[in-house]
Amino acid sequence: MEAGEGKERVLKQRQVLLFFVLLGMAQAGSKPRHYSVAEEMESGSFVANLLKDLGLEVDQLAARGPQVVSKGKKMRLHLDRQTGDLLLNEKLDREELCGPIEPCVLPFQVLFENPLQFFQAELRIRDINDHSPVFLDKEIILKISESITPGTAFLIERAQDLDAGSNSLQSYTVSPNSHFHLKLQDSSDGVILPQLVLNKALDREEQPEIMLTLTALDGGTPPRSGTALVRIEVLDINDNAPEFAELLYEVQVPENSPIGSQVALVSARDLDIGAYGEITYVFSQASEDIRKTFQINAKSGELLLRQKLDFESIQNYTLNIQATDGGGLSGSCVVFVQVIDLNDNPPELTMSTLIKEIPENLQETIIAVFSVSDPDSGDNGRMVCSTQDDLPFFLKPSVENFYTLVTNRALDRETRAEYNITITVTDLGAPRLKTEHNITLMVSDVNDNAPAFTQTAYTLFVRENNSPALHIGSVSATDRDAGANAQVTYSLLPPQDPQLPLASLVSINADNGQLFALRALDYEALRVLEFGVGAVDRGSPALSSQALVRVLVLDANDNSPFVLYPLQNGSAPCTELVPRAAEPGYLVSKVVAVDGDSGQNAWLSYQLLKATEPGLFSVWAHNGEVRTARLLSERDAAKHRLLVLVKDNGEPPLSASVTLHVLLVDGFSQPYLPLPEAAADAAQADPLTVYLVIALASVSSLFLFSVLAFIAVRLCRRGKAASLGGCSVPKGHFPGHLVDVSGSGTLSQSYQYEVCLTEGSKSNEFKFLKPILPNLLPQSTGKEMEENATFRNSFGFN
Ligand SMILES: *[C@@H]1O[C@H](CO)[C@@H](O)[C@H](O)[C@H]1NC(C)=O
Ligand SMILES: *[C@@H]1O[C@H](CO)[C@@H](O)[C@H](O)[C@H]1NC(C)=O
Ligand SMILES: *[C@@H]1O[C@H](CO)[C@@H](O)[C@H](O)[C@H]1NC(C)=O
Ligand SMILES: *[C@@H]1O[C@H](CO)[C@@H](O)[C@H](O)[C@H]1NC(C)=O
Repeated sequence: MEAGEGKERVLKQRQVLLFFVLLGMAQAGSKPRHYSVAEEMESGSFVANLLKDLGLEVDQLAARGPQVVSKGKKMRLHLDRQTGDLLLNEKLDREELCGPIEPCVLPFQVLFENPLQFFQAELRIRDINDHSPVFLDKEIILKISESITPGTAFLIERAQDLDAGSNSLQSYTVSPNSHFHLKLQDSSDGVILPQLVLNKALDREEQPEIMLTLTALDGGTPPRSGTALVRIEVLDINDNAPEFAELLYEVQVPENSPIGSQVALVSARDLDIGAYGEITYVFSQASEDIRKTFQINAKSGELLLRQKLDFESIQNYTLNIQATDGGGLSGSCVVFVQVIDLNDNPPELTMSTLIKEIPENLQETIIAVFSVSDPDSGDNGRMVCSTQDDLPFFLKPSVENFYTLVTNRALDRETRAEYNITITVTDLGAPRLKTEHNITLMVSDVNDNAPAFTQTAYTLFVRENNSPALHIGSVSATDRDAGANAQVTYSLLPPQDPQLPLASLVSINADNGQLFALRALDYEALRVLEFGVGAVDRGSPALSSQALVRVLVLDANDNSPFVLYPLQNGSAPCTELVPRAAEPGYLVSKVVAVDGDSGQNAWLSYQLLKATEPGLFSVWAHNGEVRTARLLSERDAAKHRLLVLVKDNGEPPLSASVTLHVLLVDGFSQPYLPLPEAAADAAQADPLTVYLVIALASVSSLFLFSVLAFIAVRLCRRGKAASLGGCSVPKGHFPGHLVDVSGSGTLSQSYQYEVCLTEGSKSNEFKFLKPILPNLLPQSTGKEMEENATFRNSFGFN
């Protein structure tokens, strides 16, 4: 624009100049004179003195009215009419006046009057370096793709300098940098064109923007400069593939992690920008398993669980993940997912062999064989087996993970017939998981127990003269075994004495052990019957046991008293001699009687039933002694007959009577002393004598015994007589006038204490009786038997 204006102005000036030139030629026809002045001189600055040039004197000058004329209205110069100095009217700016035109010349005329005369003149305005080069844009933006090859040149907008000539723009420089250098090119019109030439390839990823300072220099002295900032924006190309931060991601995921939980976060980086830097994650070469199990977020690279992991089926996964950018470049990485085992499986027990029932009495027997397994790994799959401590079983490890359950001793069905065995398998994981397996083991019976009688000895009582087939009691045996092994059969054992007709006396019910007396028993013949009973079970082999049965025959009052003395068979009537001078209380005789019965039935009392002269003799109720009751007199008859009644205490009582002959004599004459019968038949009297000696001995010994017994009774009474073994007096009052002759005939009243003793303690009686048993033969006949029994019973003779 300015250039255009300049040209127009120049054109006008030329036209005006032409007019004056024609005019001047016509008037003077002289060559123009040249003057010069530097631009920007202050107003009033001296340019030249015209006097000399025009050949005029100073005094002429004023008279001629000189005048400076120039085209246009502006008068830039004026002439000092006194001195002839040409002075600047105003500051002149070359750039304003001439622009780029050089040299810049202002033509003017100096006009004189009187005579009219004008001179052509030119004022050349000299340039000074008053302008710096200027870039129109302070910032120049260049966009260069990183793919551009080195050597390529980029034209940059040039700078302007209003000054002309050497003061105008001469050169450019660029700030030091590694990528570009400056190349200056001269254009056809002489303008310098700056170019930036690429030294080496650009990398947006390394340096996306480069800032350079471009400096334009002019040729002034000193030179002036102007700068512009060159901003080079490096344009991206897809020259970078996505790159994963790690090539291998190793992650550990506990099995049973919830669906949707994050397994890993993979991340790839693409240095490019825009679409070239946008990454999409996908699985590559993934198996069906992997696609079912995992999913990947295409944008974020988050790897998620699609279904639960199960260590027991797959322990690890190898995933290939590919990252692709918008330009199709891709990178890949591997994610190794290791599944961590959790203790999520309880141990399993598999029974291979199981015995449900074993016979008792077997040593170490295998009951079960089983295996254990746990799909978990490590401690989660390590197992321990146990069973109850309090049972007689133990676990024995055999080959790997196989166990046997063994009895550790023989079992006893009678103690325990059924065992509930719990096998517990526990793994060592956290938390511990366990499995229980219950086994019921039955112990089957073996006939290892013999029947056992409830008592080792049974004592049964039966009253004599019983009715035949009387039930007298029972024995009972139990067998701890079961079934047939416990079924007991009873039998009588053969008696020790083969003579004893046991089978005809008692029988036993084989099934229930009831005992029966087959026929009437006689106490006097058989006081006690001892035999063995057997019990046998039905096991195989059968076991048996025995018990002793003692049947005590109880006495009934079936025997009358039997008078031993005086003899009753009347062949030789016994006569007692009594001196007439006998004092009252003189012992005349003694009635000796025995009773086959025992106990109360054998307690005898004596009583004078009938006498020739009542009141002369008395009979002692207890001992049968016949004594004189008063003094004898001459008037008393010589012969007396006494009838003495002997009565037992049975229910009803039985009695016997005996007749006693007494002869009163005056003084003892020698011939009467030995009894004629005794002397005549010593052999006959012998047993009687023995009886009497025995009776006397027994009386004295029993007296001593009775004293001891009396003391014992007193002690017992004091001790409340509580114990069975202790002594107790029979409840019924023992009649004072009776005498027990179950022992020996004539006994003192104190014998009651012995009776009491034998009654009170039956065991005493047993001990007492025992030695006689083999002699108790049923075939021994009545009286003999009685006597034997009586004496042996009383004195323990054998
Ligand atoms: C991966 O699992 C397989 C069996 O599925 C196994 O043989 C391999 O040792 C495992 N690799 C690692 C590193 O645990
Ligand atoms: C064993 O278990 C069974 C059934 O559970 C039960 O009836 C029986 O009484 C148990 N036996 C023992 C000895 O605990
Ligand atoms: C096994 O027996 C025990 C005790 O007798 C009982 O607590 C448990 O429940 C049983 N287990 C099974 C699986 O029957
Ligand atoms: C009388 O009995 C006794 C004893 O039994 C006997 O020893 C004696 O011979 C008998 N006398 C007569 C005459 O029968």
